[in-house]
Amino acid sequence: MDDPAVAGLAAVLSPAGQALLASLPPYDDEGALALGQRLRAAGHDPVLVAGALTQSRLRARARAKFGPFADDMLFTAAGLEQATRLEVAARHARRFAAAGVRRVADLGCGVGGDALALAGLGVDVLAVDRDEPTAAVAAANLRRFPGSEVRCEDVAATDLTGVDGAWLDPARRDDAGRRVLDPRRASPPLSFAVELAHRLPVGVKTAPGIDHDLVPGAVGSPVGGPVGGPVASAPWECQWTSVDGDVVEAALWSPALARPGVRRSAVVVRGGVAAVVDDVHDPFAAGAPPVGPVGGYLYEPDGAVVRAGLVGAVVAALDGRLVDPSIAYVTADRHLELPSATGYAVDEVLPFGLKPLRARLRERGVGRLVVKKRGTAVEPEELRRRLGRLEGPHEAVVVLTRVAGRQSALLCRALPRPAP
Ligand SMILES: C[S@@+](CC[C@H](N)C(=O)[O-])C[C@H]1O[C@@H](n2cnc3c(N)ncnc32)[C@H](O)[C@@H]1O
Repeated sequence: MDDPAVAGLAAVLSPAGQALLASLPPYDDEGALALGQRLRAAGHDPVLVAGALTQSRLRARARAKFGPFADDMLFTAAGLEQATRLEVAARHARRFAAAGVRRVADLGCGVGGDALALAGLGVDVLAVDRDEPTAAVAAANLRRFPGSEVRCEDVAATDLTGVDGAWLDPARRDDAGRRVLDPRRASPPLSFAVELAHRLPVGVKTAPGIDHDLVPGAVGSPVGGPVGGPVASAPWECQWTSVDGDVVEAALWSPALARPGVRRSAVVVRGGVAAVVDDVHDPFAAGAPPVGPVGGYLYEPDGAVVRAGLVGAVVAALDGRLVDPSIAYVTADRHLELPSATGYAVDEVLPFGLKPLRARLRERGVGRLVVKKRGTAVEPEELRRRLGRLEGPHEAVVVLTRVAGRQSALLCRALPRPAP
């Protein structure tokens, strides 16, 4: 075995490797070198020691995605980076379970983030990955679920007999390791999933930046063009998800798994609590929300809501308006805590200019400043540097944006978010 990472993993998969890994103390970056030396001095195979310490380090890192379950899992570094975090995978799994799907093919299963969530809900999984070490790790992670099976093969060759649903989380890196944003060029490509959806309920994970026109069934969807398969005409649901402010994915759900009438939706997860916004409840989903003057409050819709094109739902919930037709800031005359948007109290609206802004911050005794921007080329770091040293007991948020086409600086204060 030429690759030391693969050799280390193979050693850890042995019973002796499992025993050594189980005996390790909680991972500590600073102590890892000395621990490795002690283990080798105690007679443990150096390849195994390296493999066990790697797993220990990856487990510590994986807690951010899998919580305490990480301590019972194995990883590859690339597999961990690509794995779906548990709370998001659980939402995928619930869709299949709610639709009555009993055996899901996870086609390109990686280390098994999604497969584990499915198996944990009692859905059997046929997990497939063409990469040998990755498939071996998935098999180790799924070992407690007798209804699950892992195969190391290309998904194009997978026999789907007995399967009644498919999940795909295609690899989004090319051979040179560069990110692939177009789902038609991911592996497997979107056309593969669309083709499958003629036979099975299908869910597909894509990057949050997916072009809305690429969602199968969208008017003008080019899936089925030169790099795609057949054109899908029935509507799919595209659901964007953010976790604690980061938009992590857009999942495409074939007609059999889409919610009735919903084409676009956003899930905003904060502190483990999820709120769903969908186009069925956005009165402006098919049109433009109103635009008007800045009121007493400004709201920054969550990134998943913006990506889903559902800012209108925030406008409607607040009985508000946009500050500019092309910018996702909503303003309103009252404060309402919404899970889908962060609110600020607006103290002042200034035409953008360094000197007047600096003067107002000094007058207000602002010593700590958060700079936010949308629709302007000014860089927050650059602005902070040019404002120079600020002194005072107060904290402020400056929002740089266009208001009715004019570059403006809104002097604001952060408002409390709803408790999760
Ligand atoms: C993004 S990862 C999946 C992550 C997984 N959902 C998780 O939560 O752990 C994609 C995986 O698809 C596999 N893959 C890509 N193309 C494949 C193909 N044609 N056949 C089988 N596996 C494939 C890659 O090896 C990679 O492990």
